[in-house]
Amino acid sequence: MTAPIRENLSGLDLRAEIDRLRKDRNAVILAHYYQKPEIQDLADFVGDSLELSRKAADTDADVIAFCGVKFMAETAKILSPEKIVVLPDMDAGCSLEDSCPPEQFKRFRAEHPDHIALTYINCSAAVKALSDIIVTSSSAETIISQIPESQPIIFGPDRHLGGYLNRKFGREMLLWPGVCIVHEAFSETELLKLKAQHPEAPVAAHPECPPHIIDHADYVGSTSGILQFAKNFPGDTLIVATEPHIIHQMEKALPEKTFIGAPGADGNCNCNICPYMALNTMEKLYLALRDLQPRIEMDEELRLAARKSLDRMLEMASGTVGKGDLGRA
Ligand code: 13P
Ligand code: SF4
Repeated sequence: MTAPIRENLSGLDLRAEIDRLRKDRNAVILAHYYQKPEIQDLADFVGDSLELSRKAADTDADVIAFCGVKFMAETAKILSPEKIVVLPDMDAGCSLEDSCPPEQFKRFRAEHPDHIALTYINCSAAVKALSDIIVTSSSAETIISQIPESQPIIFGPDRHLGGYLNRKFGREMLLWPGVCIVHEAFSETELLKLKAQHPEAPVAAHPECPPHIIDHADYVGSTSGILQFAKNFPGDTLIVATEPHIIHQMEKALPEKTFIGAPGADGNCNCNICPYMALNTMEKLYLALRDLQPRIEMDEELRLAARKSLDRMLEMASGTVGKGDLGRA
Protein backbone atom coordinates (compact mmCIF):
# COMPACT_ATOMS: atom_id res chain seq x y z
CA MET A 1 0.00 0.00 0.00
CA THR A 2 1.11 3.55 -0.73
CA ALA A 3 2.37 5.35 2.39
CA PRO A 4 0.26 8.42 3.27
CA ILE A 5 1.94 11.85 3.11
CA ARG A 6 2.57 12.80 6.76
CA GLU A 7 3.55 16.44 6.21
CA ASN A 8 1.10 19.26 5.84
CA LEU A 9 1.84 20.74 2.42
CA SER A 10 -1.37 22.75 2.14
CA GLY A 11 0.33 26.16 2.47
CA LEU A 12 2.76 25.53 -0.39
CA ASP A 13 2.46 26.77 -3.95
CA LEU A 14 3.33 23.34 -5.30
CA ARG A 15 3.75 24.45 -8.89
CA ALA A 16 6.22 27.18 -7.91
CA GLU A 17 8.08 24.84 -5.52
CA ILE A 18 8.37 22.13 -8.16
CA ASP A 19 9.72 24.73 -10.59
CA ARG A 20 12.28 25.94 -8.06
CA LEU A 21 13.43 22.40 -7.25
CA ARG A 22 13.60 21.46 -10.92
CA LYS A 23 16.12 24.26 -11.44
CA ASP A 24 18.05 23.66 -8.19
CA ARG A 25 18.39 19.95 -8.92
CA ASN A 26 19.01 20.31 -12.67
CA ALA A 27 16.06 17.93 -13.05
CA VAL A 28 13.90 17.05 -16.02
CA ILE A 29 10.27 16.09 -15.47
CA LEU A 30 9.05 13.44 -17.91
CA ALA A 31 5.35 12.56 -17.97
CA HIS A 32 3.22 9.99 -19.75
CA TYR A 33 -0.05 11.01 -21.44
CA TYR A 34 -1.99 9.10 -18.77
CA GLN A 35 -0.87 11.46 -15.98
CA LYS A 36 -3.21 13.98 -14.35
CA PRO A 37 -3.52 17.24 -16.37
CA GLU A 38 -1.70 19.34 -13.73
CA ILE A 39 1.32 17.05 -13.99
CA GLN A 40 1.25 16.98 -17.80
CA ASP A 41 1.11 20.79 -17.78
CA LEU A 42 4.28 21.29 -15.75
CA ALA A 43 6.33 18.46 -17.31
CA ASP A 44 9.29 19.29 -19.52
CA PHE A 45 8.17 16.59 -21.89
CA VAL A 46 4.97 14.54 -22.28
CA GLY A 47 5.06 11.47 -24.50
CA ASP A 48 4.42 7.81 -25.16
CA SER A 49 6.63 5.00 -23.87
CA LEU A 50 9.07 5.10 -26.79
CA GLU A 51 9.42 8.88 -26.77
CA LEU A 52 9.93 8.91 -23.01
CA SER A 53 12.63 6.20 -23.30
CA ARG A 54 14.42 8.25 -25.93
CA LYS A 55 14.23 11.40 -23.80
CA ALA A 56 15.57 9.51 -20.78
CA ALA A 57 18.47 8.19 -22.84
CA ASP A 58 19.34 11.65 -24.23
CA THR A 59 18.86 14.05 -21.34
CA ASP A 60 21.78 15.92 -19.79
CA ALA A 61 19.84 16.61 -16.57
CA ASP A 62 21.22 15.19 -13.32
CA VAL A 63 17.82 14.03 -12.09
CA ILE A 64 14.91 12.47 -13.97
CA ALA A 65 11.57 12.85 -12.17
CA PHE A 66 9.50 10.22 -13.94
CA CYS A 67 5.76 10.79 -13.80
CA GLY A 68 4.54 7.48 -15.10
CA VAL A 69 4.69 3.93 -13.78
CA LYS A 70 7.56 1.92 -12.36
CA PHE A 71 8.57 0.02 -15.50
CA MET A 72 8.97 3.39 -17.27
CA ALA A 73 11.17 4.84 -14.51
CA GLU A 74 13.19 1.60 -14.49
CA THR A 75 13.66 1.94 -18.24
CA ALA A 76 14.99 5.47 -17.68
CA LYS A 77 17.48 4.13 -15.12
CA ILE A 78 18.58 1.29 -17.42
CA LEU A 79 19.26 3.78 -20.21
CA SER A 80 20.71 6.56 -18.02
CA PRO A 81 22.42 4.80 -15.07
CA GLU A 82 24.43 7.84 -14.01
CA LYS A 83 21.26 9.86 -13.37
CA ILE A 84 19.17 9.90 -10.24
CA VAL A 85 15.71 8.63 -11.29
CA VAL A 86 12.82 9.32 -8.95
CA LEU A 87 9.24 8.05 -9.24
CA PRO A 88 6.73 10.03 -7.14
CA ASP A 89 5.01 6.83 -5.97
CA MET A 90 6.95 3.58 -6.01
CA ASP A 91 3.66 1.63 -5.92
CA ALA A 92 2.78 2.88 -9.41
CA GLY A 93 2.93 -0.55 -11.04
CA CYS A 94 1.16 -2.08 -14.04
CA SER A 95 -1.17 -5.09 -14.40
CA LEU A 96 0.86 -6.28 -17.39
CA GLU A 97 4.08 -6.28 -15.39
CA ASP A 98 2.29 -8.10 -12.54
CA SER A 99 1.02 -10.77 -14.94
CA CYS A 100 4.53 -11.83 -15.90
CA PRO A 101 6.72 -13.01 -13.01
CA PRO A 102 10.32 -13.48 -14.25
CA GLU A 103 10.62 -17.10 -13.03
CA GLN A 104 7.50 -18.17 -14.94
CA PHE A 105 8.63 -16.26 -18.01
CA LYS A 106 12.03 -17.95 -17.83
CA ARG A 107 10.35 -21.39 -17.74
CA PHE A 108 8.10 -20.46 -20.67
CA ARG A 109 11.16 -19.44 -22.69
CA ALA A 110 12.97 -22.65 -21.81
CA GLU A 111 9.98 -24.66 -23.10
CA HIS A 112 10.36 -22.93 -26.50
CA PRO A 113 14.09 -22.84 -27.19
CA ASP A 114 13.71 -22.06 -30.92
CA HIS A 115 11.63 -18.90 -30.24
CA ILE A 116 12.97 -15.40 -29.73
CA ALA A 117 11.25 -13.27 -27.08
CA LEU A 118 9.73 -10.06 -28.37
CA THR A 119 8.51 -8.32 -25.22
CA TYR A 120 6.29 -5.32 -24.60
CA ILE A 121 8.06 -2.62 -22.57
CA ASN A 122 5.32 -2.94 -19.89
CA CYS A 123 7.31 -5.52 -17.88
CA SER A 124 9.92 -5.66 -15.13
CA ALA A 125 13.66 -5.17 -15.67
CA ALA A 126 14.10 -8.88 -14.92
CA VAL A 127 11.75 -9.83 -17.78
CA LYS A 128 13.54 -7.37 -20.08
CA ALA A 129 16.79 -9.14 -19.18
CA LEU A 130 15.20 -12.45 -20.28
CA SER A 131 14.04 -10.95 -23.61
CA ASP A 132 15.68 -10.45 -27.01
CA ILE A 133 13.92 -7.32 -28.22
CA ILE A 134 11.63 -4.87 -26.42
CA VAL A 135 8.81 -3.14 -28.27
CA THR A 136 6.44 -0.31 -27.42
CA SER A 137 3.06 0.13 -29.03
CA SER A 138 4.54 2.74 -31.38
CA SER A 139 7.59 0.66 -32.38
CA ALA A 140 6.09 -2.87 -32.47
CA GLU A 141 4.98 -2.81 -36.12
CA THR A 142 8.30 -1.39 -37.40
CA ILE A 143 10.22 -3.98 -35.39
CA ILE A 144 8.09 -7.02 -36.23
CA SER A 145 8.33 -6.23 -39.92
CA GLN A 146 12.13 -6.63 -39.64
CA ILE A 147 11.88 -10.15 -38.18
CA PRO A 148 11.98 -12.95 -40.78
CA GLU A 149 8.63 -14.75 -41.10
CA SER A 150 10.36 -18.09 -40.47
CA GLN A 151 11.52 -16.95 -37.00
CA PRO A 152 9.20 -18.26 -34.23
CA ILE A 153 8.39 -15.64 -31.61
CA ILE A 154 7.13 -15.53 -28.03
CA PHE A 155 5.24 -12.28 -27.39
CA GLY A 156 4.49 -11.11 -23.85
CA PRO A 157 3.05 -9.93 -21.62
CA ASP A 158 0.09 -8.29 -23.44
CA ARG A 159 -2.02 -10.88 -25.25
CA HIS A 160 -4.20 -8.21 -26.87
CA LEU A 161 -1.28 -6.29 -28.41
CA GLY A 162 0.26 -9.63 -29.43
CA GLY A 163 -3.04 -10.82 -30.92
CA TYR A 164 -3.44 -7.55 -32.82
CA LEU A 165 0.08 -7.92 -34.27
CA ASN A 166 -0.60 -11.59 -35.16
CA ARG A 167 -3.73 -10.61 -37.07
CA LYS A 168 -2.11 -7.63 -38.78
CA PHE A 169 1.09 -9.42 -39.84
CA GLY A 170 -0.31 -12.93 -40.32
CA ARG A 171 2.06 -14.30 -37.65
CA GLU A 172 1.52 -16.98 -35.08
CA MET A 173 3.45 -15.61 -32.13
CA LEU A 174 2.96 -17.51 -28.89
CA LEU A 175 1.19 -15.11 -26.53
CA TRP A 176 1.71 -14.62 -22.81
CA PRO A 177 -1.76 -14.29 -21.22
CA GLY A 178 -1.42 -10.80 -19.63
CA VAL A 179 -3.87 -7.92 -20.04
CA CYS A 180 -4.06 -4.23 -19.18
CA ILE A 181 -6.92 -3.92 -16.67
CA VAL A 182 -7.65 -0.41 -17.98
CA HIS A 183 -8.15 -1.28 -21.66
CA GLU A 184 -9.86 -4.55 -20.71
CA ALA A 185 -12.62 -2.51 -19.02
CA PHE A 186 -14.09 -0.94 -22.19
CA SER A 187 -17.57 -2.24 -22.97
CA GLU A 188 -18.48 -3.20 -26.54
CA THR A 189 -22.21 -2.77 -25.81
CA GLU A 190 -21.71 0.76 -24.45
CA LEU A 191 -19.32 1.63 -27.30
CA LEU A 192 -21.94 0.60 -29.86
CA LYS A 193 -24.54 2.78 -28.09
CA LEU A 194 -22.11 5.72 -28.16
CA LYS A 195 -21.36 5.16 -31.85
CA ALA A 196 -25.09 5.16 -32.57
CA GLN A 197 -25.35 8.57 -30.86
CA HIS A 198 -22.38 9.93 -32.87
CA PRO A 199 -22.55 8.10 -36.21
CA GLU A 200 -19.99 10.44 -37.83
CA ALA A 201 -17.36 10.06 -35.09
CA PRO A 202 -14.45 7.71 -35.79
CA VAL A 203 -13.05 5.51 -33.00
CA ALA A 204 -9.32 5.60 -32.18
CA ALA A 205 -8.17 2.68 -30.01
CA HIS A 206 -4.97 1.60 -28.29
CA PRO A 207 -3.81 -1.93 -29.26
CA GLU A 208 -3.99 -2.96 -25.57
CA CYS A 209 -7.79 -3.06 -26.13
CA PRO A 210 -9.40 -6.49 -26.59
CA PRO A 211 -10.40 -7.50 -30.16
CA HIS A 212 -14.13 -6.77 -29.60
CA ILE A 213 -13.14 -3.09 -29.17
CA ILE A 214 -10.42 -3.04 -31.87
CA ASP A 215 -12.99 -4.44 -34.35
CA HIS A 216 -14.91 -1.14 -34.09
CA ALA A 217 -11.84 1.12 -34.40
CA ASP A 218 -11.08 3.31 -37.41
CA TYR A 219 -7.53 3.83 -36.13
CA VAL A 220 -5.37 1.63 -33.87
CA GLY A 221 -2.12 2.96 -32.45
CA SER A 222 -0.02 4.11 -29.51
CA THR A 223 -0.96 7.11 -27.40
CA SER A 224 1.15 9.40 -29.61
CA GLY A 225 -0.38 7.79 -32.71
CA ILE A 226 -3.89 8.41 -31.37
CA LEU A 227 -2.96 12.03 -30.64
CA GLN A 228 -1.68 12.43 -34.20
CA PHE A 229 -4.88 10.87 -35.56
CA ALA A 230 -6.90 13.37 -33.47
CA LYS A 231 -4.99 16.20 -35.14
CA ASN A 232 -5.46 14.85 -38.67
CA PHE A 233 -8.97 13.36 -38.94
CA PRO A 234 -11.29 15.63 -40.89
CA GLY A 235 -14.37 15.49 -38.60
CA ASP A 236 -15.09 17.32 -35.37
CA THR A 237 -15.84 14.48 -32.89
CA LEU A 238 -13.62 11.54 -31.96
CA ILE A 239 -14.28 8.55 -29.67
CA VAL A 240 -11.09 7.72 -27.78
CA ALA A 241 -10.57 4.13 -26.57
CA THR A 242 -7.58 4.52 -24.29
CA GLU A 243 -6.90 5.95 -20.84
CA PRO A 244 -8.94 9.19 -20.78
CA HIS A 245 -6.21 11.53 -19.44
CA ILE A 246 -4.77 11.71 -22.97
CA ILE A 247 -7.86 13.75 -23.89
CA HIS A 248 -6.26 16.66 -22.00
CA GLN A 249 -3.61 16.99 -24.74
CA MET A 250 -6.25 16.72 -27.46
CA GLU A 251 -8.40 19.46 -25.93
CA LYS A 252 -5.37 21.71 -25.56
CA ALA A 253 -4.23 21.23 -29.15
CA LEU A 254 -7.70 21.12 -30.74
CA PRO A 255 -10.18 23.18 -28.69
CA GLU A 256 -12.63 23.30 -31.59
CA LYS A 257 -13.04 19.49 -31.68
CA THR A 258 -14.94 17.18 -29.30
CA PHE A 259 -13.31 14.13 -27.74
CA ILE A 260 -15.37 11.47 -26.00
CA GLY A 261 -13.78 8.75 -23.87
CA ALA A 262 -14.98 5.25 -24.80
CA PRO A 263 -17.22 3.92 -22.00
CA GLY A 264 -16.86 1.08 -19.55
CA ALA A 265 -19.73 -1.19 -18.50
CA ASP A 266 -21.24 1.61 -16.37
CA GLY A 267 -21.55 3.81 -19.46
CA ASN A 268 -18.87 6.33 -18.52
CA CYS A 269 -15.09 6.35 -18.92
CA ASN A 270 -14.09 6.78 -15.24
CA CYS A 271 -13.42 3.06 -14.76
CA ASN A 272 -10.76 3.40 -17.47
CA ILE A 273 -8.54 5.70 -15.42
CA CYS A 274 -5.31 3.82 -14.75
CA PRO A 275 -5.19 3.35 -10.96
CA TYR A 276 -1.39 3.03 -11.03
CA MET A 277 -0.75 6.21 -13.02
CA ALA A 278 -3.20 8.03 -10.73
CA LEU A 279 -0.98 7.38 -7.69
CA ASN A 280 1.36 10.19 -8.80
CA THR A 281 0.26 13.57 -7.45
CA MET A 282 1.69 17.09 -7.33
CA GLU A 283 2.45 16.61 -3.62
CA LYS A 284 4.40 13.42 -4.25
CA LEU A 285 6.26 14.96 -7.20
CA TYR A 286 7.27 17.89 -4.98
CA LEU A 287 8.53 15.52 -2.26
CA ALA A 288 10.37 13.36 -4.79
CA LEU A 289 12.25 16.39 -6.12
CA ARG A 290 12.93 17.73 -2.65
CA ASP A 291 14.11 14.45 -1.07
CA LEU A 292 15.33 12.68 -4.22
CA GLN A 293 13.25 9.72 -3.05
CA PRO A 294 11.68 7.26 -3.89
CA ARG A 295 14.62 6.48 -6.13
CA ILE A 296 15.05 3.68 -8.68
CA GLU A 297 18.08 1.55 -7.75
CA MET A 298 19.15 -1.43 -9.80
CA ASP A 299 21.71 -4.18 -9.64
CA GLU A 300 24.33 -3.47 -12.34
CA GLU A 301 24.31 -7.01 -13.75
CA LEU A 302 20.53 -6.89 -14.15
CA ARG A 303 20.72 -3.42 -15.69
CA LEU A 304 23.25 -4.47 -18.31
CA ALA A 305 21.25 -7.60 -19.19
CA ALA A 306 18.03 -5.58 -19.54
CA ARG A 307 19.78 -2.89 -21.55
CA LYS A 308 20.59 -5.26 -24.43
CA SER A 309 16.95 -5.82 -25.37
CA LEU A 310 16.14 -2.12 -24.95
CA ASP A 311 19.08 -1.07 -27.12
CA ARG A 312 17.86 -3.49 -29.75
CA MET A 313 14.48 -1.75 -29.70
CA LEU A 314 16.03 1.71 -30.02
CA GLU A 315 18.16 0.54 -32.96
CA MET A 316 15.37 -1.33 -34.75
CA ALA A 317 12.82 1.40 -34.12
CA SER A 318 15.02 3.80 -36.03
CA GLY A 319 15.58 1.20 -38.76
CA THR A 320 19.32 0.80 -38.20
CA VAL A 321 19.26 -3.00 -37.88
CA GLY A 322 18.65 -4.90 -41.09
CA LYS A 323 16.42 -7.91 -41.73
CA GLY A 324 17.81 -11.20 -40.56
CA ASP A 325 20.18 -9.66 -38.03
CA LEU A 326 18.37 -11.29 -35.14
CA GLY A 327 19.29 -13.85 -32.57
CA ARG A 328 18.39 -14.84 -29.08
CA ALA A 329 19.76 -12.86 -26.12
P1 13P B 1 2.11 4.02 -25.14
O1 13P B 1 2.07 5.38 -24.54
O2 13P B 1 3.52 3.65 -25.52
O3 13P B 1 1.15 3.87 -26.27
O4 13P B 1 1.70 2.96 -24.01
C1 13P B 1 0.56 3.04 -23.29
C2 13P B 1 0.67 2.37 -21.98
O5 13P B 1 0.22 1.33 -21.73
C3 13P B 1 1.36 3.01 -20.90
O6 13P B 1 1.26 2.20 -19.84
FE1 SF4 C 1 -0.29 -0.76 -17.17
FE2 SF4 C 1 -2.62 -0.47 -18.39
FE3 SF4 C 1 -1.91 1.29 -16.53
FE4 SF4 C 1 -0.64 1.25 -18.90
S1 SF4 C 1 -2.77 1.76 -18.55
S2 SF4 C 1 0.30 1.38 -16.86
S3 SF4 C 1 -0.69 -0.94 -19.37
S4 SF4 C 1 -2.31 -0.90 -16.20
